[in-house]
Amino acid sequence: MKKLDDFRLELGGRAYVPIMVGGMGVDISSESLAVATARLGGIGHISDAMAPTVVDRIQKTRFSKTKLQKYQDNIYNSDKSNIHFDLGELAEATRLHVTSAMEAKRGEGAIFLNAMEKLTMNNPGGTLKTRLVGAMDAGIDGITLSAGLHLGTFSLIEDHPRFRDVMLGTIVSSVRALRLFLMKSRRTRRLPDYVVVEGPLAGGHLGFGMDWKEYELHKIVTEVVAYLKKEGLDIPVIPAGGVFTGSDAVSFIEQGCAAVQVATRFTITEECGLPTKVKQAYFRAKEEDVIVNQISPTGYPMRMLKQSPAIGADTRPNCEAFGYLLDREGHCSYIEAYNEALEAAHEAGKKKFKVMDKTCLCSGFKRFRVWTCGHYVYRLKDTTTQLADGSYQLPSAEHVFKDYQFSTEHELSLPPVSEK
Ligand SMILES: Cc1cc2nc3c(=O)[nH]c(=O)nc-3n(C[C@H](O)[C@H](O)[C@H](O)COP(=O)(O)O)c2cc1C
Repeated sequence: MKKLDDFRLELGGRAYVPIMVGGMGVDISSESLAVATARLGGIGHISDAMAPTVVDRIQKTRFSKTKLQKYQDNIYNSDKSNIHFDLGELAEATRLHVTSAMEAKRGEGAIFLNAMEKLTMNNPGGTLKTRLVGAMDAGIDGITLSAGLHLGTFSLIEDHPRFRDVMLGTIVSSVRALRLFLMKSRRTRRLPDYVVVEGPLAGGHLGFGMDWKEYELHKIVTEVVAYLKKEGLDIPVIPAGGVFTGSDAVSFIEQGCAAVQVATRFTITEECGLPTKVKQAYFRAKEEDVIVNQISPTGYPMRMLKQSPAIGADTRPNCEAFGYLLDREGHCSYIEAYNEALEAAHEAGKKKFKVMDKTCLCSGFKRFRVWTCGHYVYRLKDTTTQLADGSYQLPSAEHVFKDYQFSTEHELSLPPVSEK
């Protein structure tokens, strides 16, 4: 009976335990989680989503406050086109974010950055380039391109001195997306070092439409592996989405994959950035609580718990401080949804209202009110022990990592109970 530890992921001349803990935006995949993963010989991710805001919270900087002060006269103006991120400040926030993780890193594993294209920040190319260059300057081991097709991303950074030695991968959900990415990236005479194939059961945004149920990860992986073989390309394939046990992972390795990317099982670990209250909500989740909706202003469907406080919230857009999802014209579909709901409430003479069509992802993620999760979140309760007070024991990241690494026959080892 094979276990995941019987295999290694070969990347950039190094061998890793074939477990990648996926990027989870706005510090859910925290530095502590990435450091723990790297210490155990795997690959952890930090996320570049809202890095200035995250660094403000953790390192007590003032990036968001400074931006708010600069634009505060615009707060009641629904036109946000004049709001811009200062690229120097963004570079500095990225440097602080990445340097802190790289300095804390120990062991044989690696720390990568999850870099989202859909984080358009009113200047898509400029801010993406700044984030990527900042991360490479600060010594990141690798970058996983996510939330978008990234057709021009390699070109943005091809002049960087580390372009050919930093590990670069991309997340796709179809052969079509991969083919497009390779076609565009070839112009830089550089291939990705790995490809994450994310299926429809993943957490966060989905690379599918609302017909996501019609897709299946093993099938997409088969197509991707066959396509790469046909093209004569030896690029490690890393599936993600619904890999819940070590045996699930082994089934993908036996199908020709090099490693797996997992996330949901780590959301309830001690090191994960979510508040304990949210971790407990994940444990309590039932299958019927897990929904895929279209309230993300990115335009991608997103999976979350239906109890997420961000659903229906009437948060005033705060693009002056945040504005991470403003497109190049300064639009965010949440602003429109908010203004419509506000106007309808005024007309009806009501003070309270709900914005149902979209949610403010910036505020929602900053305050951990978007409870995004993978499809199997409702199985998390089977991975631990319920304590006398009804709460669930949080496992360490090491416990979950080793469970993936060594378990067989879909067994889940429960963490030792430490009564509070
Ligand atoms: C809470 C949460 C947040 C996530 N946020 C992001 C993100 O910001 N960017 C991204 O590329 N993927 C994100 N993902 C997807 C994961 O990185 C990963 O690919 C996927 O969830 C793996 O499937 P699993 O959760 O079933 O293990 C997120 C997943 C979860 C559970």
